[in-house]
Amino acid sequence: MIKVGVVGYGVIGQRLADGVVLQKDMELIGVCGNAKPTLAIRALKEKGMPYKLYMASLENKEQFDELDIPISGTLEDLVKESDIILDATSAGVGMKNKEIYMKYNKKAIFQGGEKNSVADVFFHGYANFDKGVGQDYLKLTSCNTTGLIRAVDCIDKAVGVEKVAITIVRRVADPGDYHRGLTNALKVDTAPSHQAVDLMTIMPHIEATGILVHTPVTHGHIITVLATPKEEINKEKLLEIFNKHPRIRVVKIADGFQGNAALFRYARDLGNPRGDMYEIAVFDETIVNSGKDIMFAINIPQEAVVIPETIDAIRAALNLQPTQEEAVSLTNEYLGLGKWMK
Ligand SMILES: NC(=O)c1ccc[n+]([C@@H]2O[C@H](COP(=O)([O-])OP(=O)(O)OC[C@H]3O[C@@H](n4cnc5c(N)ncnc54)[C@H](OP(=O)(O)O)[C@@H]3O)[C@@H](O)[C@H]2O)c1
Repeated sequence: MIKVGVVGYGVIGQRLADGVVLQKDMELIGVCGNAKPTLAIRALKEKGMPYKLYMASLENKEQFDELDIPISGTLEDLVKESDIILDATSAGVGMKNKEIYMKYNKKAIFQGGEKNSVADVFFHGYANFDKGVGQDYLKLTSCNTTGLIRAVDCIDKAVGVEKVAITIVRRVADPGDYHRGLTNALKVDTAPSHQAVDLMTIMPHIEATGILVHTPVTHGHIITVLATPKEEINKEKLLEIFNKHPRIRVVKIADGFQGNAALFRYARDLGNPRGDMYEIAVFDETIVNSGKDIMFAINIPQEAVVIPETIDAIRAALNLQPTQEEAVSLTNEYLGLGKWMK
């Protein structure tokens, strides 16, 4: 049985480990993580530790102890126990790890993110298998190249291929790759959100808390508010209050205001520069009572919403008007806010 160690337990490493286990002539000695109990490692624990876990660094050992995740040894221990290492660490790490593999005279296979110079052979199982035979260090082609070569080699072997021209439509990120930006993913912040905390700073008489979820859209935020008013209020009364506010536009889902994009489009139809909207929008049909509380959803056009209040700040800082009412009225007037109310 060939003893295999997998170093790097991320997207590729997890799959390599699963693949090795399926080989009847191979034995998976274990997998090696970096320093933290990543989600992949937590999942390994939740699955009952089917693979022994080694860690490149033990600096966070207490975190593993707290989570009751057993560590079977260090990277060097795994290397010593293995005949060959599959290195699936983050691009560039394999080159450094190679020193350890060389130290223990162990063969290693690197992944596509490493420089070609990490290996003796740039390898593909079909196209140049013979070149890899007996070599100590092999580097795999990338995912695209692997698949591409599979197809081209297949035709080449059958009928010969003179040339190929390729267009790659490349996926931008793997699921859960938050470091590449939000792609088909939602991200949750720790509570309370800073907006709730900020609200309390500005309005200390109101208790506020909240949760923020990032979403990969660019046209406006939506906030749902569950308010506990001091005196009971129904939808009709709330609408009356909102409708009097020049920086709040009440819109109806039934009219086509189905969400943030509809408001952005409406702002463009109005001819607002860049599709800006100074006002927030309340979706009429979201207003609903819950016991004594009342709930509703608002749209925040993030690019322009702070402009009116910033101009108010100028008025305040320079004491331009004698009262707040006069100051904001002037700001509203100059910015054309509340036009829809007339
Ligand atoms: N993703 C793909 O679709 C794909 C396809 C083909 C080839 N590849 C190649 O495969 C390799 C791995 O990519 P991946 O997508 O699997 O990356 P990944 O999901 O980020 O996994 C890399 C893992 O390596 C760990 N690691 C970093 N330094 C380490 C160290 N010194 N010792 C042990 N573990 C360490 C990381 O842990 P921490 O996060 O805790 O640092 C992470 O869990 C790269 O060369 C990449 O180019 C990727």
